[in-house]
Amino acid sequence: MNMRYSKISGWGKYVPEKVLTNFDLEKMVDTSDEWITQRTGIKARRIAADDETTSTMAVAAAHKALDVAKLTPTDLDLIIVSTSSPDHLVPIVSSTVQHQLGATCPAFTVVTGCTGFVYGLATGHQFIATGAYDNVLVIGVELISRFVDWTDRNTCVLFGDGAGAVVLTPSNTPTGVKAIDLGSDGAKGMSLAVPGLGTAMKLDHDVIDRGDHYLKMDGRTVFKFATRVMPQSTLKVLENAGMTIDDIDLLIPHQANARIVDLAVRRLGISPDKVFLNLQKYGNTSAASIPLALVEAYEEGRIKEGDHVCMVSFGAGLTWASAIVQWGQPLGDSAEIMDEDLIWDIDALRRKLARASTGVRVKARTLMEETSYKASSLMLPLYTSVGRRLPWSKKKEK
Ligand code: COA
Repeated sequence: MNMRYSKISGWGKYVPEKVLTNFDLEKMVDTSDEWITQRTGIKARRIAADDETTSTMAVAAAHKALDVAKLTPTDLDLIIVSTSSPDHLVPIVSSTVQHQLGATCPAFTVVTGCTGFVYGLATGHQFIATGAYDNVLVIGVELISRFVDWTDRNTCVLFGDGAGAVVLTPSNTPTGVKAIDLGSDGAKGMSLAVPGLGTAMKLDHDVIDRGDHYLKMDGRTVFKFATRVMPQSTLKVLENAGMTIDDIDLLIPHQANARIVDLAVRRLGISPDKVFLNLQKYGNTSAASIPLALVEAYEEGRIKEGDHVCMVSFGAGLTWASAIVQWGQPLGDSAEIMDEDLIWDIDALRRKLARASTGVRVKARTLMEETSYKASSLMLPLYTSVGRRLPWSKKKEK
């Protein structure tokens, strides 16, 4: 069986129309545009209209991703919705999205806070790699403004609403999701929590009076965690992919805070030109942050065919997650190299790869894996039909 890679074949985003600027917030809480800009880099965020829900935003982004992939909802084999702000606790929002889309496939929800999209992408990739499913829709969506206490300046300036989606489809060529790194550390979980919703606390008037049905955050603890795990997880996912930071064409960090990104970028030694930020427009949209940035980076021409994109996020749990994804088709004709060189003269291919550019070297490393599959399936026919050309046959002849 050939290796199956999961390629990003479709992408789409949705943001609500209503813009809430820092100046609007100045009229709501004791804050200033200067404070918010200096501490976070955020200038504005989008807020869902009263008639919008998490599922309606998810469906809007999903339709766009399906159009790009040239698929219809009934072509889908699986829907993964990543969110921590579902329409309801029950029923799960992924089934609502499946129904609203008119899809007929299974659907489930991933709830890992801001890392949800990367967790969802990693999960979708597994279903494709194993051959279980072909067309997987992964959505990151958040209507977090309904869980924000608009009188709490510590949190209300940070968050916004939005949705982003990708369609994963199988590919025999090494592309798409190349490596992942997922992590969880629940020790400081309550530093970013909605403490009053769930089975740990009976929902009563005291909960409401304390505002425990809203998002609470210990900003400094989360800040420390984020600046530690962002570079750590990026280095780990690079190691998993057999790549270095120089092989990355674009870094898409979780769009929480420009200061956190800046520290991570400096620790990683990556040029700021290779880092994409749109948090100034949308604030922290939690599970939607990475896919929204991915789609906008592509729309702005920051991602080209064959580019390697590294996404890295942190969030509630506390959790972290990164993925390296190759966009579109890799450069060159991999099949030709495999058939002509790798099977017959592996040393020549190794020499060729050593001379090749970094991007090609990465592709070839994955090719080597693919070739071991191909070689094993070719071995018997090769031996019987053209046995004389095999290296050990040549030695015998001498
Ligand atoms: N406007 C004005 N002042 C504010 C404010 C606001 N919106 N929010 C907090 N302050 C005040 C604080 O009350 C504090 O005042 P005090 O010293 O009188 O108590 C002061 O500003 C400094 O607070 P501090 O917490 O030290 O600020 P900070 O430099 O750590 O920045 C965050 C605060 C929230 C921006 C920062 O901690 C952060 O980004 N943390 C990570 C949050 C995050 O990413 N969460 C999402 C995870 S997915």
